[in-house]
Formats: sequence, structure tokens, C-alpha cells
Amino acid sequence: MLPRKIIIDTDPGQDDAVAILLALASPELELLGITCVAGNVPLELTARNARIVCELAGRPEIRVFAGCARPLARKLVTAEHVHGKTGLDGIDLPDPEMPLQDQHAVDFLIDTLRREAPGSVTLVPIGPLTNIATALQRAPDIAPRIAGIVLMGGAYFEVGNITPTAEFNIYVDPEAAKHVFAAGVPLTIMPLDVTHKALVTRARVDAFRALPGRVGPAVASWTEFFERFDKEKYGSEGAPLHDPCTIAFLLRPELFSGRHINVEIETGSDLTLGMSVADWWRVSGRAPNATFMKDIDAEGFFALLTERLARL
Ligand code: BDR
Ligand code: CA
Repeated sequence: MLPRKIIIDTDPGQDDAVAILLALASPELELLGITCVAGNVPLELTARNARIVCELAGRPEIRVFAGCARPLARKLVTAEHVHGKTGLDGIDLPDPEMPLQDQHAVDFLIDTLRREAPGSVTLVPIGPLTNIATALQRAPDIAPRIAGIVLMGGAYFEVGNITPTAEFNIYVDPEAAKHVFAAGVPLTIMPLDVTHKALVTRARVDAFRALPGRVGPAVASWTEFFERFDKEKYGSEGAPLHDPCTIAFLLRPELFSGRHINVEIETGSDLTLGMSVADWWRVSGRAPNATFMKDIDAEGFFALLTERLARL
């Protein structure tokens, strides 16, 4: 079977970095490009970090594009308190030598979706949705050409991580999220309800560190860095590894379960701004627009991730 074509839209971020590595380690996927957005850290750093990750994986030919530097309608909120000053704190890696592409990420998204066969490209956004929404706003003709969007964002039973009711990626650019959720593109959502079950325990970090080569130890150092914050915050055994759940879904959908339901984004309220209002119990009568995941086979997920990282 031909590999599935994907574009990762990202704001690395240690967990974004692991998602990129998982994709690069997986022959079932063809990574057409990485589009960067401002989120965990400002755009200049996310575009730098994505290239550092490609070089760490020995893949300097991957094309990396810089996109939107700020949300559609708001001031940028960043998360250095989780990811550190660079966004990739935890291990010192060399500055990237591979170039950043000249083309803007939004133009790359539009051109690629218009050029490739309809229904052949899946988008994997793992940061704020600014680039994806901008592409859809500027070129609505691309919407029916997208095979699907598999994104990390939102929460329902776990409610929020950046405010009491909002998850970070949606909160940073709620207007963008609202646009994407209303675009009529098949959506699969990995919310906190899933990712808070994908915890990097001591044994799992040790397994990464024991891998041969440079990648496993780098992933172990990154997760050890950001888990200090999450362990304190949640009192959990380890930190959630959010973003790689999207790529794992493309590789092994049977590891996840959820419901096809209606999910809307709150943009009007100060108190609940960025909340993903998921009609889990199907009480609203609103039409389903997303497959909202809730459960993950965490053992299976970490076995897959560890086995794939060992290939790099
Ligand atoms: C999301 O926010 C970021 O900090 C992570 O990279 C992930 O994409 C989790 O809420
Ligand atoms: Ca991210």
C-alpha cells in the first residue's frame, strides 16, 4: 500500500517533537512538509525547533515552512512555563543547518492541497489552528480536497489545562478552531481526555533512554524536562505525551476509541473562552462534526512509540 500523505502543523514543543519523530520513523506515512505556527513559543523558535528535530532524525531533506506568527484575533499566549525558554528545553542540540523554506506555510498548505489528488492528504495539526484556519479562509476550495484532519486539542471530561475550561491549543486561537470545526472536513480529535491517559512513567522514560542512537535519549531528556511541571500540577505518575497520539492514531487507529458527536468552540465568553463543548451525551440535537476520542490503550501506544523511535 502507498504511504498516506500527511502535513504536520506544529509548534514544537517537546511533545510535538516526539510526534514528528514518530511520523519520520513510520514508513506508512509520507511527510509532505512541516508547517510551523506560533504557540508553545513564538514562531521563530517553533520554525527553528522543527528543523532541529528533523536533523536529529537524520532527515534534513524534510521541508519546513514558517506560518502565522499570531492568532487570528488575539494576542499570542505561549507556554514557556511548560516547555522552557526554547520550547525544546531538556537537552542541548545544535542549531539547525537545514534551511527554512521561503514559501509561507499557508501558501504551502493551499498549493499542496490543490496539487495533490482530492482526498489524498491528511492534515495533522498539533498546535493552535491559525495556519489551518487561514488556509481554509483564504482558499475555501481546499476543504473538500482534505482527506481528514487529525488534531490534538480540546477536552471535555478533563475540562482544561491552560484555564479551568480550555485546552491550550484551542485557547490560543479559539476563532481559528471555530473556523476549522465548522469547515465540514472529517475531524478526529485527540483531547486531553485521551492524552492525560498517555503518561510517561519512569519505566517508559527508561525505555526511551535505553534505545540505541541519539533519538531515544533525547526523547527521555525532553520528557523528563516537561514532566516536572505536569507531575506537580496533576499529582500524576508522569506527564501526558499529547501530540504523538495523533500520529499513533494514523498508524494504529484501534488503540483509540471515541464517539462521532458535535463539538463547538466557545469564543464569546471570558470565563470559558476556548472551551470545546463536546456533546458527548448527544443532548443538543446539533449535527455531529467530529470523532472525539476518549480512551487509549496506553500500553499499546508506548510499545508502538518505543519500537518506532528505535528505528531512527
Ligand atoms: C498541547 O499544548 C501544548 O503545550 C502541547 O504541545 C500540546 O499540543 C496540550 O494542551
Ligand atoms: Ca503542540
